[in-house]
Amino acid sequence: MVETNTTNNDYHFPDDFWWGSAASATQIEGAASTGGKGMNIWDYWFQEEPNRFYDQIGPEQTSDFYHRYPEDIQLMKQLNHNSFRLSLSWSRIFPEGTGEINEEAIVFYHHVLDELLEAGIEPFVNLYHFDMPMAMQKIGGWENREVIDAFAAYAERCFAIFGDKVKKWFTFNEPIVPVEAGYLYNAHYPNVVDFTRATQVAYNTMLAHAKAVQVFRHADIPQGNIGIILNVTPSYPRSNRPQDLESARIADLLFNRSFLDPAVKGKYPQELITWLKEQGLFPKTEPGDSSLLREGVIDFLGINYYQPRRVKAKEHIPVPDSPMMPESFFDYYEMPGRKMNPYRGWEIYEKGVYDILIDLRDNYGNIECFISENGMGVQNEERFMEENVIQDTYRIAFIKDHLKWIHRALEEGANVKGYHLWTLMDNWSWLNAYKNRYGFISVDLKTMTRTPKKSAWWFKEVIRNNGF
Ligand code: NOJ
Repeated sequence: MVETNTTNNDYHFPDDFWWGSAASATQIEGAASTGGKGMNIWDYWFQEEPNRFYDQIGPEQTSDFYHRYPEDIQLMKQLNHNSFRLSLSWSRIFPEGTGEINEEAIVFYHHVLDELLEAGIEPFVNLYHFDMPMAMQKIGGWENREVIDAFAAYAERCFAIFGDKVKKWFTFNEPIVPVEAGYLYNAHYPNVVDFTRATQVAYNTMLAHAKAVQVFRHADIPQGNIGIILNVTPSYPRSNRPQDLESARIADLLFNRSFLDPAVKGKYPQELITWLKEQGLFPKTEPGDSSLLREGVIDFLGINYYQPRRVKAKEHIPVPDSPMMPESFFDYYEMPGRKMNPYRGWEIYEKGVYDILIDLRDNYGNIECFISENGMGVQNEERFMEENVIQDTYRIAFIKDHLKWIHRALEEGANVKGYHLWTLMDNWSWLNAYKNRYGFISVDLKTMTRTPKKSAWWFKEVIRNNGF
């Protein structure tokens, strides 16, 4: 158990707690077609269907971190960040996904890492954040095992090149999202709607994860650790009726345990295997997969938490000819009286983060973890501007309320080591582009001027006091 209250803070966190924020390459870098970068699925999709993107803003028009990183890192420093999560762009480093390396990319990332280290900010580096190189997608993306090998080769090069600067590595961010969005719900390229293919993609992604971990174990990175970042969404049943409990169990298996278990335990839950076989959804496997998955066990885990999933038993029998989807097995429901984010529409349920941490404590060997994303998206946030600063008191309340539950989990023995907000500065968010603003820092899209919001100054004090 951690001794957490040694100062005047009501909520005091351990001295070595990681505080900061997170972002991803495609969402902040810009320079999508310069600096030798190859095309990824986002560049391609925007070129093909710009109307699918909010305000028709594509990945070229992000916050220009590629050129402005020195200023951004100085801002992080000014805001007391002791850590920052970024991702490397696979298609910037390997424009074709494999083969020739792009030296300009290597120079760029070395500069970024050097600036971070000089500013006393620990870089947490993720290898894949939704951004498949187009050349790899053209040969089938995660459905093709050659792409798994290409990913492991990319990972190996990154460990070799940046391993003396980076100690905290991650293979994937939210691997379920490209599965859901790309193979079920038509929100990421390649816009497939097919539960069987989705299951295969999910499985192959975890093989790619395991291969990268395997490669990491042979890399020479003193004190280096490797993990994965999962968006765990607690599944709460509507009632204790057996049908509702069963629905919540299936949603939990599909969306949470199918990644948590292989990452932390090196194997899939038997219940999930049985269920997938019963439904005819079991993916194609090859000899050697099980031992590879066992090698994929991580050192630490990032948890992204935004909102829970509330489920109930199916009330409508699916039409026999309609495609099988996860929702063929459960329905979502809106819990009466639930608290909502009025500016974006997602549920706010702070205790969810505690439930996740306690589940990890009790069922996943209390693996070392940290909150790698949490945050509040707000539409038209300019309306809260006063004297040129966005007065985002709602975000302060949101963070505070989550930190209170994290603190409670710590007191009860959870092995949680940090908190990163999504995100440092307002950034481009896939199909939603700049619709929802999440940052500590606002970005004027015309001038690219960065201005910290009220929450950024508040959080700076939280970090200084290691609590509040
Ligand atoms: C999670 C993802 O990691 C990130 O890319 C996204 O922008 C945020 N959630 C907000 O939706």
